Amino acid sequence: MAKVEVVLGLNYGDEGKGKISTFLAQDSDIALRCTGGNNAGHTVEFNGTKIVFHLIPSGILNKDTEAVIGNGVVIDPKVLFEEIEILKENKVDLTKLHISTRAHLIFPYHVLEDKLHEYLKEDDKVGTTARGIGPCYMDKADRIGLRVIDMYSDSFEKKLRRNIKNKNKVFELFGFETLDEEQIVSDYLKYRDMMKPYVIDTVSYLHKAIDENKKIICEGAQATGLDMDLGDYPMVTSSNPTIGGIQTGSGLGAKDITSVYGVCKAYASRVGEGPFITEQNNETGDLIRELGHEYGATTKRPRRCGWMDLVALKYAVKVNGVTALALNHLDTIGKLGNAKLCVGYKLDGIVYDESNDAIIGRENEVEPIYEEFETNFEIKGEIDYNNLPENAKKYIERIEKHLSVPVKFIGTGPDNDDMIIR
Ligand code: GDP
Ligand code: IMO
Ligand code: MG
Repeated sequence: MAKVEVVLGLNYGDEGKGKISTFLAQDSDIALRCTGGNNAGHTVEFNGTKIVFHLIPSGILNKDTEAVIGNGVVIDPKVLFEEIEILKENKVDLTKLHISTRAHLIFPYHVLEDKLHEYLKEDDKVGTTARGIGPCYMDKADRIGLRVIDMYSDSFEKKLRRNIKNKNKVFELFGFETLDEEQIVSDYLKYRDMMKPYVIDTVSYLHKAIDENKKIICEGAQATGLDMDLGDYPMVTSSNPTIGGIQTGSGLGAKDITSVYGVCKAYASRVGEGPFITEQNNETGDLIRELGHEYGATTKRPRRCGWMDLVALKYAVKVNGVTALALNHLDTIGKLGNAKLCVGYKLDGIVYDESNDAIIGRENEVEPIYEEFETNFEIKGEIDYNNLPENAKKYIERIEKHLSVPVKFIGTGPDNDDMIIR
């Protein structure tokens, strides 16, 4: 039987999806990215090497695992080739990389539009990664986007010049710099040739793999809280990082998916603006940030830190159909001495143990209900659940009780091998 295992972020990103995906890819035939672009930063420590992935599925580090960038991903070719260079330096075989004909391309005007749109939002900035992700998905929805396959069509240059001219008019209107049309056209004609060896019909490729009973790991990017439809709109990214994005972003069918692993940390973090009910904007948050090294892999921004929110996680488990959890940074929580789990929200005297529309737009008024735990343990690198101290087990079991899904993977350090499997 073919196996398709999906790894999804359940919070606001940076849960350690890269680490879990590389781990699972060890016995997989294909590692797949389906959504987002280089707003993602997946740090992987694999056999002593630390690599930050933005576009290529991290499972490519496994010698026998092929890698696919699916049709739902938005690709900045400059970033793609920088990443390819890093992998070549690390002796990774790049003939294993396959890129979808249907993936959309990010152009320099998307990056500039990202900045312009944030500027125009005045007090309502999202705090994007400024990588052009939102504007690229906007052009896709507006049907003026250019896909990988479009680069090989006779009309590519004409359409690209049209887009650049139109975008430049808008930049001029708002007093922004305008872009050099000739430079962009010449760069992308070069990228067209450089990308050619990697480009395939990934939908057919994946279906053939399913027919041949292969194992596929889908490496989610971003997370449920950032989902355009199911997250904290408008403080979200411009794609669907939830389970639906895996299907539309790959062409895999619903019945192909065999497991959905939801990834979270033993605490919580968020980068960028937007609600964060369990945020600890205080010394505790600072301590979590330092102990967990919570600085953005893409933008280097300090991440906002706080406690694990079981109410939000229950929602994420449900909307994604999560079959098991991966809980990272249990080692970090062990260094804190004490930790809290948010098990309910109180608003207008009503207690909610599941997410509810009543809180939308009123997140600042919500009083989180916490249970406190002693978390004073040293478990770095532990791989056997039986060796965990009782306090660590109690913490995990409380999470399982609230979410009604088993914690299958437990991260005990940043390295690929620092993992307990239950
Ligand atoms: P992703 O975007 O979901 O892949 O997560 P990031 O890579 O942005 O952030 C997760 C960070 O936590 C990375 O620096 C990982 O190396 C690190 N990490 C992942 N799991 C663990 C863990 O169990 N313990 C510790 N100490 N670090 C971890
Ligand atoms: P990974 O895959 C954390 C956040 C940005 C911002 C919002 C919109 O590493 O978990 P965008 O540039 O996507 O338009 O920004 O989404 N964001 C992430 N935060 N991890 C990510 O990816 C993120 N990708 C986007 O900070 O708040
Ligand atoms: Mg990340």
